[in-house]
Amino acid sequence: MDLQALPVVQGKYNLENYEDTCANFDWSDTEKQFSWYETGRVNMAYEAIDRHAESFRKNKVALYFRDDNREEKYTFREMKLLTNKAANALKTHGNVEKGDRVFIFMPRSPELYFAILGSIKLGAIVGPLFEAFMEGAVKDRLEDSEAKALVTTPELLERVPVEELPNLKSVFLVGKDIEESDTIIDFNKRMAEADRNLEIEWVDREDGLILHYTSGSTGRPKGVLHVHNAMIQQYQTARWVLDLQEEDVYWCTADPGWVTGTSYGIFGPWLAGASNVIVGGRFKPETWYQTLEDFGVTVWYSAPTAFRMLMSAGDELVKQFDLSELRHVMSVGEPLNPEVIRWGLKVFNKRIHDTWWMTETGAQLIVNFPCLEIKPGSMGKPIPGVEAAIVDDQGNILPPNRMGNLAIKKGWPSMMREIWNNQAKYDSYFLPGGWYVSGDSAYMDEDGYFFFQGRVDDVIMTSGERVGPFEVESKILEHPAVAEAGVIGKPDPVRGEIIKAFVALLEGNEPTDELKEDIRQFVKKGLAAHAAPREIEFRDKLPKTRSGKIMRRVLKAWELDLPTGDLSTMED
Ligand code: WT7
Repeated sequence: MDLQALPVVQGKYNLENYEDTCANFDWSDTEKQFSWYETGRVNMAYEAIDRHAESFRKNKVALYFRDDNREEKYTFREMKLLTNKAANALKTHGNVEKGDRVFIFMPRSPELYFAILGSIKLGAIVGPLFEAFMEGAVKDRLEDSEAKALVTTPELLERVPVEELPNLKSVFLVGKDIEESDTIIDFNKRMAEADRNLEIEWVDREDGLILHYTSGSTGRPKGVLHVHNAMIQQYQTARWVLDLQEEDVYWCTADPGWVTGTSYGIFGPWLAGASNVIVGGRFKPETWYQTLEDFGVTVWYSAPTAFRMLMSAGDELVKQFDLSELRHVMSVGEPLNPEVIRWGLKVFNKRIHDTWWMTETGAQLIVNFPCLEIKPGSMGKPIPGVEAAIVDDQGNILPPNRMGNLAIKKGWPSMMREIWNNQAKYDSYFLPGGWYVSGDSAYMDEDGYFFFQGRVDDVIMTSGERVGPFEVESKILEHPAVAEAGVIGKPDPVRGEIIKAFVALLEGNEPTDELKEDIRQFVKKGLAAHAAPREIEFRDKLPKTRSGKIMRRVLKAWELDLPTGDLSTMED
């Protein structure tokens, strides 16, 4: 099959002509959609839910939920009332007010979505936490953000060191037979008795909305703050890129603990008034195909690792399902291999559309639009209204086909507004000329298509999840047998990268396989399963700079059998 360029498939798309739209588009056209255009105030949850509940979409299904135990659906009208009730419960029993940080730490369930949207209706800032996080990771985030309230489950509460978090005043538990106390509140019970009417907190479009913690190559995880204004771009890309139309049934496979699961698992689709499928539970190829078939999913957003896992489950399996409703498939998070695109053409008869963006960017920036040819291996072109370029380290634009920093001209609507409590970190993202520097290296060809080349820094992307080597190293160093640790991403055919740790032991410890397993479990229990190194290699000594910084680039060169490059800063 020829993969030189995959031609446009006939269809009626929300964005029909890319060049014309780029030439004529102005974000203020999109702004006119939302309430502040008339009132000067806005609220994301109103725009995503209540607005539709008050329209012809009132009885349209907003949420289809399924996991191993539950199968439920809610219309926009029901979502409006239930999120009102959630908001009232949080306000009455947690005293939650505008600007407070409310964290949500639980597996996917309808209550998770009521809690997130209910918090937003109060003007609170939501902090979603991935359910796999262990105590250390949870504590870091609640502490840094000075969270006031938490919504979680009795099982996960064991990983929340409530006594060590003086700012945390109330913990709402979603579960059965909850025993309430000064700090513990039964979320379902309080929601059930709460008033279904609510005075929404109308906020300024620049007020805080959501805080996603993400990893860099150095330091602790950082809190990326997004504001209500992000809705402009999330809505617009839900139209142009997800191409959501009135009859669509949409499924985003990401968990709301990650930005894809909020920007495109909550905000984008509901701003566009779409029916949104949410499936809990673990990944299983059968369940995923069954989901596509049962709900008649038409628009599907997932990630390369998931596609590769489906691919390795074999073509016989996919043939057992009726996926004829599917019309549009997208991918995000890691490079989308041409091999996966080829497989998508074969089994779904669909082009998989790659999209590029990051936690910090809040919404998609470079994408393959349905109305454009796809060049396999390319992430596509910038969305109208956004300027992307390849720049050198001084912020000078490089010509086509030259590799450099993938950069975006500051000012797109959904850009992060703050790194929580860390202005210096925020400032470090920008170069002279107003360029936001992504940390990715890429090039642009003469037709304006962007090609991802790799991370500039040491950030690891494993199964589409971003892991900071520093966080893993710090955890490994807490192990009583460890003297030094250096962590890198090692290329892996399915997961993109896996985490590999090089470890030097303290005197008196034997480098055994049991110890490797013990260190792995230690990270798993202390941080999260996806942050635990799949491979550990013991070394007597690790390469360090004279100032004592582990040289990950040298570790990587060892691993990949590459030249180690300049070693002038290495200690003897
Ligand atoms: C990093 C951001 C935003 C959703 C998920 C990830 C990598 C993202 C692509 C793509 C190659 C990609 C980049 C980026 N990445 N999309 N289409 N092709 N790489 O968000 O956890 O903030 O990670 O993911 O390296 O910098 P994130």
